[in-house]
Amino acid sequence: MDPILSPPHTKPLLSVAKLTRFYYVACLSEELGQGPMARVVAGVPLVLFRSQGRAAALLDRCPHRNVPLSLGRVLADGRLECAYHGWQFDCEGVCRKIPGLANEADARERRAEGCAVMEQDGLVWVCPEPGHTPEAPPFALPKFDGDYARIVRVVEAEGTLHATLENALDVPHTAFLHRGLFRGGKKNQIRAVVRRSPDRVETEYLGEPRPSGIAGKILSPGSGTIHYWDRFVLPSEAQVEYELGDKKHFLVTALCTPVSDFHTRLYGVAAFKTPFPKHVVRAILEPIALKIFGQDAVMLKAQSDNVRRFGGERFQSTELDFMGPQIWRLLKQAESGSVGEHVVEREVTFWA
Ligand code: FES
Ligand SMILES: [Fe+2]
Repeated sequence: MDPILSPPHTKPLLSVAKLTRFYYVACLSEELGQGPMARVVAGVPLVLFRSQGRAAALLDRCPHRNVPLSLGRVLADGRLECAYHGWQFDCEGVCRKIPGLANEADARERRAEGCAVMEQDGLVWVCPEPGHTPEAPPFALPKFDGDYARIVRVVEAEGTLHATLENALDVPHTAFLHRGLFRGGKKNQIRAVVRRSPDRVETEYLGEPRPSGIAGKILSPGSGTIHYWDRFVLPSEAQVEYELGDKKHFLVTALCTPVSDFHTRLYGVAAFKTPFPKHVVRAILEPIALKIFGQDAVMLKAQSDNVRRFGGERFQSTELDFMGPQIWRLLKQAESGSVGEHVVEREVTFWA
């Protein structure tokens, strides 16, 4: 069997891919004042700061005696000053001043290692591999007109990136773990089509009547069917899109940042259009969404704890696990630098 096709349990005992050559969200733009601010992305400790307004990121380690640079301060000229002996670094990590040193401060080996940063859609994106600038820009959030309301929330999961992404895009657990909140009433037959391309995998669901849980009733007070998609986009984006007639549209994007092997931070951006006032929908949907996520977070932590307790994973999948094995395949391809193809992976009829 193709090792990429094998379920995550066979080769690596943990579904942890090391993808450090991509952009991840390090923080919201509004969270980054002048700084400095410590963040960990893909296991790499970083210091973020603003150098005359521009977001910058360096490894959080002073080249002199390795004190965290995040303990320092940002000077009026935009330099980051280490808290120990006062070495000063610019936004690229070049050492510009060493207090008391008569000679030039700038020397290659005195540089703090810098990371590529981009600010986009109100988010600060960082590539955690020092000195590498990713070819692909950060994931661009779709732009919607003024009919759409938007909610941005940051939540934490004690799960691997893979487990967290799978959870965000996994339909079968919704009728069970979130019974009554979204699905969980009468079972319906649904058709799912899984399509994969080099940078993404998408499952399209057809023919599901409006879900009977509270959230489903709010999404669609009448009847009718919903048309929706679960999407994973490399390296770490999970997107759920619902269409109910031409009046209602929900697009929830979870931009996931692997903090460490078992800790993932989700920057959730929900955009929705309904015939109802935005503040009403927001006031009703947000607590339900947070409750649903709370149930997921409990399960992800229990899964992580148990995987560690048993010394690794032993997963068994069925054809209802539309996304998890496909996400793993794409993560492994990206890790090894290989490029996948465009395929319709499978069509499945199931009950949910
Ligand atoms: S450890 Fe940073 S200046 Fe000495
Ligand atoms: Fe869930």
